[in-house]
Amino acid sequence: MAKAKTAYVCTECGAEHNKWQGQCVECGVWNTLSAIVLTPASAAKSSMGAQRSSYAGSAAGAPQITPLTAVALTTEARTLTGIGELDRVLGGGLVQGSVVLVGGDPGIGKSTLLLQMLGTLGAHLPSVYVTGEESLSQVAARAQRLGLPLEPLRALAETCIERILEQAMATRPRVLVIDSIQTIWTELLPAAPGSVSQVRESAAKLTRFAKETGTSVFLVGHVTKEGGIAGPRVLEHMVDAVLYFEGEAGSRFRVLRAFKNRFGAVNELGVFAMSDKGLREVPNPSAIFLSTHSGPTSGSAVMVTREGTRPLLVEVQALVDQSSLGNPRRFALGLDQNRLAMLLAVLHRHGGVAAYDQDVFVNVVGGIRVQETAADLPVVLAVLSSLRDRPLPEQAIVFGEVGLSGEIRPVPNGEERLKEAAHHGFRRAIVPKANAPKKGRVGEMEVIGVERLAEAIEACR
Ligand code: TYD
Ligand code: MG
Repeated sequence: MAKAKTAYVCTECGAEHNKWQGQCVECGVWNTLSAIVLTPASAAKSSMGAQRSSYAGSAAGAPQITPLTAVALTTEARTLTGIGELDRVLGGGLVQGSVVLVGGDPGIGKSTLLLQMLGTLGAHLPSVYVTGEESLSQVAARAQRLGLPLEPLRALAETCIERILEQAMATRPRVLVIDSIQTIWTELLPAAPGSVSQVRESAAKLTRFAKETGTSVFLVGHVTKEGGIAGPRVLEHMVDAVLYFEGEAGSRFRVLRAFKNRFGAVNELGVFAMSDKGLREVPNPSAIFLSTHSGPTSGSAVMVTREGTRPLLVEVQALVDQSSLGNPRRFALGLDQNRLAMLLAVLHRHGGVAAYDQDVFVNVVGGIRVQETAADLPVVLAVLSSLRDRPLPEQAIVFGEVGLSGEIRPVPNGEERLKEAAHHGFRRAIVPKANAPKKGRVGEMEVIGVERLAEAIEACR
C-alpha cells in the first residue's frame, strides 16, 4: 500500500498546497492552511492521469472534441419533493444524482426540513436518512411528532462512510440524507471526525456514490461563527448546490436560499414558518417581513426587494447614535457592511449630512439578507431618518441604487415592485426616475421619481 501523503488545504478557498505556509497564495488570507492526509487513492491521482494517457491512442471510450450542436441534450431527471418552497430553491425539483449541501446554524431546522422532505417523498422514492447526531429513537420520535408517515421512512445511525456506502449499495435508495457531514469519517484516515481532511474525503466519497448510482444526496453542514460551512470551502466546490437555511432567533420565519446551484438560479428564496408540526410553507410571503409599528417610526424604511422571482416587502431599520469611540461603529445585519460605509460617504458628499462622529447600525427585519443594490436608497433614507429623528412619510416605500456621484440608478423589475407595494396599500413611493411611470402613480399610490440623492432627501420632507 502506498504511503499516505500530507497536503495543506486553505479553509477559506479550498486551494491545495504541498507545504505549509502562513498565507494562502490563492486567496491571500493568513493562517488558514490546515494539514490534511491524502488517502492513497487521492494521492494516486497523478498516476491515474498517466494511465489515462495510454488509453488515448485507442478511439473507443476516449473523450473526443465535439461541436455542441452534435451533443444530445438530456434534461436532468427531476422529481418534485412535494415541498413547493424547497423545489423552488432547488431550481424546479430534485435532480437525480445531484449532491446538495444544506447549511445553517444549529437549531435552525435543517434536520426537520430534510426529514419532512423524505416524508413527503414517501414510498415512490425510497430514501435513507443517515443520522450521526441523533439516535434512531430520536429520529423516529421526531417523525412521529411531525405527523409523517412512518412506513416509507428508513434511518441509519452510522458515522463511518465505508459502512454507510456499503448499506446504501445494498438497499439502493434514490435519496440519501447525511445529517451531518461533520460527524462522518473514513477508515482510511487517522484524523478526527469533523476535521478538514475527514469532511473532505467523506464528501468526495459521497459525491462519487451519487454520480455513479444516480442517487440524490443531501449533506447537512453546520455553519461556523464566521458564517461559512465548517470544514473547507472545498466542500462548496464539490457539490452541485449549496443551500443556506437562515432566520432570526426570535422569528418563526425561516428562509432557504440557494448560494450556488448548478441546476437553477441562485437568488431564489424559499420561505417557511415554524410550527409545532414542523415547517410550513409560506407560498405568498410578500409582506411577512414587515414589522408592525403602531405609527410612523424614525429610522425605518420599507423597501421592495426582488430576490429570486417574486417581490418581497422588507423593512430596513437604522439606528444612528452619538459615538463615544474615536473610530465610530458601522454595523450592518442582513446587508453588506462595506456598502454601508460607502453609502455613508455618499450621504456626506452628496447629501451634505455627516455621520463621522456617529455609530451607525443597520438591520433588515426578519433575519433575511438583501444582496441587491436596490437596498441602497432605503438604507440611506433610514439612516437619515434616524439621525434627524424624523420618520419617513407615512406609508411610503423606497428602493433604488445609489451611485458614487450621488445619482439614483434604476433597478430591474421596477414596475412589478411598484405594483406589489400599491397592492399592499402603500400611498407613496420614492424610486429612481427611470423606474417611475410617466403619469406619476400606480393605482392609488403616488410615485416620486428621483435622479439625485438630494432630490430623494427633499422628497422625504
Ligand atoms: P432541528 O431541525 O433539529 O434543527 P437543526 O437540524 O438545524 O439543528 O430543529 C431544532 C429544534 O426546533 C427541534 O427541537 C425541533 C424544533 N422545531 C419545531 O418545533 N418546529 C419546526 O418547524 C422546526 C423547524 C423546528
Ligand atoms: Mg440537526
